[in-house]
Amino acid sequence: MFKILEKINLAPNVFLVRVEAPRVAKAAQPGQFVIVIADERAERVPLTIANFDREVGWVDLVVQASGPSTKKLAAKNKGDELKDFVGPLGVPSDFTELSDEELKEKKFLFVGGGIGAAPVYPQVRYLSERGVHCDVIIGFKNKEAVIYEENFKELDCDLYVCTDDGSYGFDGMVTKKIEDLIENEGKEYDTCVAIGPMIMMKFVCLTTEKYDLHTIVSLNPIMVDGTGMCGACRVSIDGETKFACVHGPEFDGHKVDFDLAMKRQRQYMNVEKSKGQQVWR
Ligand code: FES
Repeated sequence: MFKILEKINLAPNVFLVRVEAPRVAKAAQPGQFVIVIADERAERVPLTIANFDREVGWVDLVVQASGPSTKKLAAKNKGDELKDFVGPLGVPSDFTELSDEELKEKKFLFVGGGIGAAPVYPQVRYLSERGVHCDVIIGFKNKEAVIYEENFKELDCDLYVCTDDGSYGFDGMVTKKIEDLIENEGKEYDTCVAIGPMIMMKFVCLTTEKYDLHTIVSLNPIMVDGTGMCGACRVSIDGETKFACVHGPEFDGHKVDFDLAMKRQRQYMNVEKSKGQQVWR
């Protein structure tokens, strides 16, 4: 059993859950995810790691209560336990293979949409700890939905908060801010990393294609086993079938067939909602 050390309400229906999981925390790398089972009757929920502390042995997850199992997760409180907590799963972010010297030569732009802002955090933290300054755009529907702003402010990054309704920060979607930074502020990047709803990642990729900007996205399709056995998480990358749980979850965004991925999500959306998978993508 895995004990919940902390639970914080970050925004309406969005919760940070800090879980005591020393072995997962010790092995975790930016870009990886875990599969969580709240109790013996709950479904498996894949969640990208939002933060971890190797010394103390905890892992943070950000949960949007949208179906029975995510609601069960969100209903847990400090001191409660989770039945299962499997991970870290998936391949760490590509940049973790670069040396500190190589990283310092690179200019990164991170884009997080909605609760996708949370898994961007450990990536920016990783780079910040190595003296690599990044630009970070996080976008939300409105001011109420903004999360992780203070966390990013502690890192070595320039942070741009966007809201769709203009109630806070930059007035407009993240794609508009990308264009603004490149066209009006003269920014140049080697890599863009986008994490959030599938539709947002698709439009980020369409935007960055215009600038020939290499873009990595973190796909979060339906997952069952998380070990490459069931095929539930299959996606098409450059015309080839890949399993997001073992080949990803991060892929070259310009090679992802987003329309097919979204079609597969719609196909399972009703089942997913009824089974309690997290529907944030
Ligand atoms: Fe089963 Fe990826 S979740 S193959």
